[in-house]
Amino acid sequence: MPEPCAYFRGEYMNPKDAKIGIMTHAFHYGTASFGGINATWDENLEQFCLFRLKDHYRRQLTACKMLHIRLPYNEDAMSAITVEAVRRTGFRQNVYCRPVAYKSSESLGVRLHDLDADWLMIATVLPPFSSKGGLRCCTSSWVRTSDNQILTHGKICGGYANGALAKTDAQMSGFDDGIMLTPEGHVSEGAVTNTFFVLKGRLVTPPPSDGILLGITRDSVMQLARNELGMETVERSVVRSELYEADEAFFTGTYAGVVPIVEIDHRPVGAGTVGALTARLQELYRELAVGRNPRYSDWYTFLRPE
Ligand SMILES: Cc1ncc(COP(=O)(O)O)c(C=O)c1O
Repeated sequence: MPEPCAYFRGEYMNPKDAKIGIMTHAFHYGTASFGGINATWDENLEQFCLFRLKDHYRRQLTACKMLHIRLPYNEDAMSAITVEAVRRTGFRQNVYCRPVAYKSSESLGVRLHDLDADWLMIATVLPPFSSKGGLRCCTSSWVRTSDNQILTHGKICGGYANGALAKTDAQMSGFDDGIMLTPEGHVSEGAVTNTFFVLKGRLVTPPPSDGILLGITRDSVMQLARNELGMETVERSVVRSELYEADEAFFTGTYAGVVPIVEIDHRPVGAGTVGALTARLQELYRELAVGRNPRYSDWYTFLRPE
């Protein structure tokens, strides 16, 4: 029977058998950084494509630097462990990989120094993301934490309470997700996704200075737009009015892929249906993530299980 596989304290095991103590620092204070990496299963070629593994681990190692976490692994070792864990699951369907670097000392006290750290990763299966023909979003009343409050370019676990507040309030009000604004009122991102807009025929996305995570899907979509469609993405601040002026809008993220937004604050985006450019980028990204675009072979790690 296929089952999830964790790498924990140097061994591969079922995640059910991997336990951390209740005094673990990261559990109390969110002093950890997580990642999310796709191993997309190709039915036809019977192989996995692990997408931009090294880029994911470079970003996680940068977050570790922010948190004063030193690990005995580099991105090559982390990548090799991830491939091996996916292989060991025995799954023949999309696998989601969740690495976590964390302060592992069983010690209380809010700080980042004088603490041990460890790294674990889990290869598991998530329910497929459903966008139901396009998401209905609201502008969240929760302000996106700014970089001087919690470093937004690292996926720092404690910071995710911010996105969780936005997501739950949005869903309890009947929306699919909340779009957060920065303290200055610039559009930032969804709970776990970057945002893109089509404004006056141009593809626009908020810049690194507007409280966003530098999403790997965001970067991939920008490269697809440039290389496949000859379209440069404009990185600039987006204001709230533009949420209602946009002809198209979409989220990007590893779990979600490219996801159309068809309504914001009870106002239709464009015609209120999936926009043409969004649909094209969604298709290009699907092909890319499963490893079928040879132009990006550097981004692919293939695994063909025996
Ligand atoms: C806050 C936030 N923004 C954006 C993203 C999308 O990033 P990526 O495309 O690297 O998955 C994520 C992913 O989890 C996220 O947590």
